[in-house]
Amino acid sequence: MVVVTMLAATVVTVCAPYVNKTGKPLRLFFNWNFMKKILVINGPNLNLLGLREPALYGAKNFAALQQFIRDCAARLNVEVELFQSNHEGVIVDKIQAAYGVFDGILINPAAYTHTSVAILDALKAVALPTVEVHLTDISTREEFRRFSFVSLYAQKTICGKGFDGYKEGLEFLAQL
Ligand code: DQA
Repeated sequence: MVVVTMLAATVVTVCAPYVNKTGKPLRLFFNWNFMKKILVINGPNLNLLGLREPALYGAKNFAALQQFIRDCAARLNVEVELFQSNHEGVIVDKIQAAYGVFDGILINPAAYTHTSVAILDALKAVALPTVEVHLTDISTREEFRRFSFVSLYAQKTICGKGFDGYKEGLEFLAQL
């Protein structure tokens, strides 16, 4: 019993410095899988790709985009988790939960790009390498789309390259 208690105390003492703010163990210390893990977030209405203004966003649907991202990730030898939500708070929760779990975030915040201080703050809080991607070139569209809150934090912003923008974003995060 004494031996077990001493052993447990030693494990706690040795591991304590490697446990991060959220209580999750640092991935570098405990993770046996050294593939980079990237969280891909798509914001509101992107689930309607194909149906949604095809002249702007293309004829391919959201399932095709997800398959495209998975194929790129496989080629780059990175692990991806795909996440889509139409709700700002849900996206904030997902970004917060990424801390200590993912190595980077690829995000198309969609309409929240232009309105969400909360998403910007969440990205700054977890401070993970982040790439912002947009299917269309927001700099040449309506005036209200030209400003991006997320760009104030993202290390890279890719616009107007359709699905290929996601590929470029993954490549950037994979080589960090
Ligand atoms: C978008 C551009 C945004 O302005 C728009 O609200 C979207 C999609 C893009 O991928 O081009 O929903 O982020």
